Amino acid sequence: MKLKIAILAGDGIGPEVTREAQTILTAVAEAGGHEFVFTEAQIGGVAITAHGTPLPQATIDACLDSDAVLLGAVGDNKFNALPPDKRPEAGLLQIRQVLGGFANLRPAVAYPALADNSPLRPEVTKGCDILFVRELLGGLYFGQPRSWNKTTNEAINTMRYTRDEVVRVARVAFELADKRRKKLTSVDKANVLECSQLWRATVDSLKPEYPDITVEHQLVDSMAMHLMNVPHNFDVVLTENLFGDILSDESGIITGSLGMLPSATIGGKVNLYEPVHGSAPDIAGTGKANPLGAILTAALVLRHSGGLEEEARAVEAAVTQVLNAGHRTADIARGNTAATVTTEQMGKLVHSALAESIDRQQSLHGV
Ligand code: IPM
Ligand code: MN
Repeated sequence: MKLKIAILAGDGIGPEVTREAQTILTAVAEAGGHEFVFTEAQIGGVAITAHGTPLPQATIDACLDSDAVLLGAVGDNKFNALPPDKRPEAGLLQIRQVLGGFANLRPAVAYPALADNSPLRPEVTKGCDILFVRELLGGLYFGQPRSWNKTTNEAINTMRYTRDEVVRVARVAFELADKRRKKLTSVDKANVLECSQLWRATVDSLKPEYPDITVEHQLVDSMAMHLMNVPHNFDVVLTENLFGDILSDESGIITGSLGMLPSATIGGKVNLYEPVHGSAPDIAGTGKANPLGAILTAALVLRHSGGLEEEARAVEAAVTQVLNAGHRTADIARGNTAATVTTEQMGKLVHSALAESIDRQQSLHGV
């Protein structure tokens, strides 16, 4: 198959982790006789420096001309004084809008090999496998009006949702729950916010269409606590934009590191793939960044844009194998006696594990 993939490496550790993800995609393409065509484009702080804007038109064009967009990270402290609409992050929010994907899937899986890495006790994280479905195009991130009046010292952001916006993302969550353990937890703040009351009523109104799915509602504050207390109780977690942003970072505690979390945004013109972690400027270029979030994101590209489920699983299995063998980047090195590996070494380890499994498969099939 042929897949055009736009690579938006972005800022900080973005380029170094994305490089490793791209190597994995290339290996899969070569092994399977697929043609993956990569186009690089700029976003975030690097785009501001080069073109004066966090999302140049050339980047938009490259993305719209692709089958998938793989993004590293955006954010650079150099631009902290700029207003939100001029910052590197604005480029990311704008490309999300242009591509139109409204359902951001953020899987959080507790790898047994990393059980000692989480500050939570191993019996708490054991078997934990959550899929967050974060609404990505609504809520406080995009609601109008928004402003900061420096004379009156008043700032405004607006949380706004329509029923249709909730329906479309809720359907994605119901359907994914149906393929998993059939439990859907919808998270809101319905004891205070009208947006959340609309959210809850909308989710409830869809229940009759999915009789096999058990639906529960949680308030976001107590959900934050349950997530640390009983994470194995959750299967698919559906929530609005900002709540999803916060809870998905929190789930980095379950997995042992934010560096382990991938994401895929579906439902729009072109799917957008990005690790959950940020640009981590403090460790950029030091070889300390964990490329596994980006590599697992590459697996999601294979699954959701390539329809290559077996290949996606092979990449995920290669990551598990490397972790089981005790290899660790700095962020997941707690309690590990072996030397930690660099970003590039970790990428190479996953690549060799994948190459070995491909060889085994091919000799099994007599290729
Ligand atoms: C994320 C990030 C972004 C967000 C930022 C960089 C705009 O934190 O993808 O979780 O808030 O959505
Ligand atoms: Mn975030």
